[in-house]
Amino acid sequence: MNEIKIFAPATVANISCGFDVLGCCLDSIGDEMIIRKSADKGIRITKITGEILPYETKKNVAGVAALALLEKLNTELDFDFGFEIEIYKNIKPGSGIGSSAASAAGVVFAMNRLLGEPFSKLELVEFSREGERLACGSPIADNVAPALFGGFTLVKSTDPLKIIELPTLPDLYAVIIHPQIEIKTSDSRAVLPTTISLELATKQWANLGSLVHALHIENYELFSESLVDFIVEPHRSKLIPDFDKVKQESKRAGALGCGISGSGPSIFTFCKGEQTADNVSNAISEVYKKTQIPYHVYSSKINTQGVKILEL
Ligand code: HSE
Repeated sequence: MNEIKIFAPATVANISCGFDVLGCCLDSIGDEMIIRKSADKGIRITKITGEILPYETKKNVAGVAALALLEKLNTELDFDFGFEIEIYKNIKPGSGIGSSAASAAGVVFAMNRLLGEPFSKLELVEFSREGERLACGSPIADNVAPALFGGFTLVKSTDPLKIIELPTLPDLYAVIIHPQIEIKTSDSRAVLPTTISLELATKQWANLGSLVHALHIENYELFSESLVDFIVEPHRSKLIPDFDKVKQESKRAGALGCGISGSGPSIFTFCKGEQTADNVSNAISEVYKKTQIPYHVYSSKINTQGVKILEL
């Protein structure tokens, strides 16, 4: 096996009450990548379509994640080949649905497969975090973890890295609206407070606990009640035009909850069933039609698999 084509999924991080720890994987939004072994040693990015991104390995998130894997491999194995990476971007960088995470997770998943799977998924998350470090200045794991594990994930700790796979709700749809403005994760992190009150922290961890419980007992109502963010959303929502209206209209159309996807500007909603997802999709589109801002709306089931193999 010398070449593999994969689907690298978009992800929603934070999920209202789980800043930097919760995430989930989407099914119908993602990039494609082709990774092949090459006679030349090292990592080369040979093709990028869809977005203008650096070809220089050390400046590209996929390149950096691939190098992290290679570095670990070099210490354990002696091998005389390298890898070429082709990236077909569909997820816009700065969209808030894990564009950099998809590239980083996709490449390490593919390389691991071509190498006969010497690394665990947890190790792949570690390599991918180097891509995130390049993209936003922090080795965040809440997008790369669900991209690799699929479903809902909780980053229990980052040092040492521990990821907990959570169950999902079977009839759950994510509807995402992506206003075509760019908010850099680093900028969106800069607006956050460095300290919070005990009162807010208490409310937030109560919701995080009840959300995790809701996933385990398959309780849509409790899941819905728990989708509240007392800490981050009040600061970041100011950066997203008509955020409050989108939230209001999505709830009116039947959404279980609505919040900022990752660091924005995308806004996620969760819905029970396809019909409600369609209704919510129409309702939030109507809000953005009234602005002058172009937007995309995506509807997706939860992807319980993570990165997928398209061709071997
Ligand atoms: N947890 C990160 C943040 C995700 O909100 O800054 C970035 O997509």
